[in-house]
Amino acid sequence: MHENIYSMKTKLLFSILFLYTFQGIAKEGMWLPFLLQQVNEVEMKAMGMQISAKDIYDINQGSLKDAVAIFGGGCTGEMVSDKGLILTNHHCGYGSVQRLSSLQNNYLTQGFFAQNQEQEIPCAGLSVTFIVSIENVTTQMFAGTTHAMSDSVKYKIITSNKNKLEAEQKSKTGYIASVKSFYYNNEYYLFLMEKFTDIRLVAFPPNGIGKFGGDTDNWMWPRHTGDFGLFRIYAGQDNKPAEYNKSNKPFVPRKSFTINAKGIKENDFAMVYGFPGRTQEYLTSSGVAEIMNVLDPARIKIRSKRLSIMKQDMDANEETFIQYASKQASIANYYKKWMGELEGLKINNAIEKKKKIESAFKQWVQADSKRKIQYGGIVDSIHACYRKHERSIKLNEYVEEIIWASELLKKGEILERIGKAIDTLGYIDSLVAYKREMDQFYKTINIQTDYKITKALFDIYRKDIGEDQWVSDKNVEAMYTQSVLCDPKLFNDFISLRDRDALKKIIIQDPIFSTYTLYDQMQKVNKSILIKELDHLLSFYTVYIKGLQEFNSGKKMYPDANSTLRLSYGKIEGLKKKNGSSYNYFTTLDEAVKKHNEKVEEFNMPLRLRELQKNKDYGRYAINVKGKKTVPIGFIASNHTTGGNSGSPVINAKGELIGTNFDRIWEGTMSDVMYDINLCRNISLDIRYTLFIIEKYGQAKWLIDEMNVLF
Ligand code: ARG
Ligand code: GLU
Repeated sequence: MHENIYSMKTKLLFSILFLYTFQGIAKEGMWLPFLLQQVNEVEMKAMGMQISAKDIYDINQGSLKDAVAIFGGGCTGEMVSDKGLILTNHHCGYGSVQRLSSLQNNYLTQGFFAQNQEQEIPCAGLSVTFIVSIENVTTQMFAGTTHAMSDSVKYKIITSNKNKLEAEQKSKTGYIASVKSFYYNNEYYLFLMEKFTDIRLVAFPPNGIGKFGGDTDNWMWPRHTGDFGLFRIYAGQDNKPAEYNKSNKPFVPRKSFTINAKGIKENDFAMVYGFPGRTQEYLTSSGVAEIMNVLDPARIKIRSKRLSIMKQDMDANEETFIQYASKQASIANYYKKWMGELEGLKINNAIEKKKKIESAFKQWVQADSKRKIQYGGIVDSIHACYRKHERSIKLNEYVEEIIWASELLKKGEILERIGKAIDTLGYIDSLVAYKREMDQFYKTINIQTDYKITKALFDIYRKDIGEDQWVSDKNVEAMYTQSVLCDPKLFNDFISLRDRDALKKIIIQDPIFSTYTLYDQMQKVNKSILIKELDHLLSFYTVYIKGLQEFNSGKKMYPDANSTLRLSYGKIEGLKKKNGSSYNYFTTLDEAVKKHNEKVEEFNMPLRLRELQKNKDYGRYAINVKGKKTVPIGFIASNHTTGGNSGSPVINAKGELIGTNFDRIWEGTMSDVMYDINLCRNISLDIRYTLFIIEKYGQAKWLIDEMNVLF
């Protein structure tokens, strides 16, 4: 009796606490599109959604999922016409456009707006991938495993089941087939995908619009970045993926977005549909502590040094600027994110909050004998894992962020390959190919800059990891003065040799080769230790997450992001901050123009845009703010997003496109580890600004005419 009341009470208490912590608020979560009907639809409709879950995801007929795709390696894009037009972020196309740029044709600083299809430029290496279908294959993955098996045996079986199913599906359907793990290996889903590789650049604003505010404004609100790029997917005559060919046809998607340019209001329902990369929302306090005490501080410290050197050289030389623009942007992006994340986790007491969840979970486990058997001690086992791998995870981070940040040293790998190729019959052809590869490489690097970075970063390594002769100043000098890689001319002389022994001798004595080999070996050894430890940790998380799910009274938790298609929903809304001030939910071009500064590259807005603003030449895109005509730029909303959601469509209650997601606000950057509705907002580009820039700035109205826009 006593026992019963106690357990009922605790159960109630804990589930309330748990619901509050994990999903008390509807706007948290990146949900599985194929489970919306079951898990979320009722709530979404209550929040204002006017379409149905089936309109969002349906495998039998065209649904919004067919208008959303993986853009390149790690972004999202959306179809905005039935002739293959795909909209994404400026920063998602940045690398591709950089590769198309030269001192004569610098599309980064000048922008690019095709005036017809003929002018569109093929982007070698770029791809767009659509999801054909998603299926729960958990049972198939566990087939042949038993509870009694050790984890390593079990995962061998699962891996073999996975490989088999993927191969079967690929040969049966012709699509790319990939099985992904969810909920820390508690569930598995099969994704069939179709990948297009003939992608062409259509419209890309100059940095002064598309990257306006640069790293200074990155991860911040209010924001005035016109962060969009427009591309076109081309397909073969059969509308199927095809290699680049001039005669390919614009791809006709199963579905493309209707664009709503009538405007948005605060509290409007909004959702983001895309491919969030990675979150860790269910970490234990020890997991969060590792991020706060080890990982984030190391990364921040190292990257700060690397970036300051890069910036100096980029400012001094335009060629270096082009070479490093894309590298710099991605290094700076996460550098700043980690700073925001660390700060957010600190001031919001993340560790304490996680500890509270853990102790509630532990008490819940203790209250039931069956649970004790299943979950007893699991949290402490997880803590122990973090303690155990402390050294190897730190070393791994330092090697990745320091040793392999030295681009020339990393290229030691090519000497290894050449060394192997020499012993083969066709080695002369290989040498020719290696020469070509290095010619390309030298175009992307300033060796002097790389030397400075290596020297400074190796200093940090020496201080934090310990003395060793390979990171000595002397060794760095040797790498950059004596290696055949340190000067294109030296490399050319070397690779033109045809005498195998002479080539071999040079490689063996090369200071980059020896340093490279050493770290490569060391990293392999350390990685193998670390991977074992992380696998071990993962197997404990598998149990913990299962327990949390039960603890959560069976109410579905959203799985952590894993680069698969997800839907987040919330509202367009500003933010009341703790200090009493607040954020408005949108920004305007008038505000942006006030930030213009000719002398600061990041804030140098093109004259033509300033003139449009001065003349209030806004065409169909004008809005009235406090009696003054202007154009909207960005808005914030309570949609749970992360890296990979860049370029994602932001969709209104009717399923129409109102914007493109591109960032989060500073206060909420810790949301990958701990989401808080009172602090987190995603930042989107208002579709009206995109259309305005294309039509009025880029003079490419033909593109707007191709889209389905409601004015
Ligand atoms: N912070 C956004 C995202 O995570 C935008 C990044 C754009 N890059 C930059 N360095 N400003 O990708
Ligand atoms: N800018 C991020 C990206 O490249 C999206 C913003 C975020 O991390 O929330 O995916």
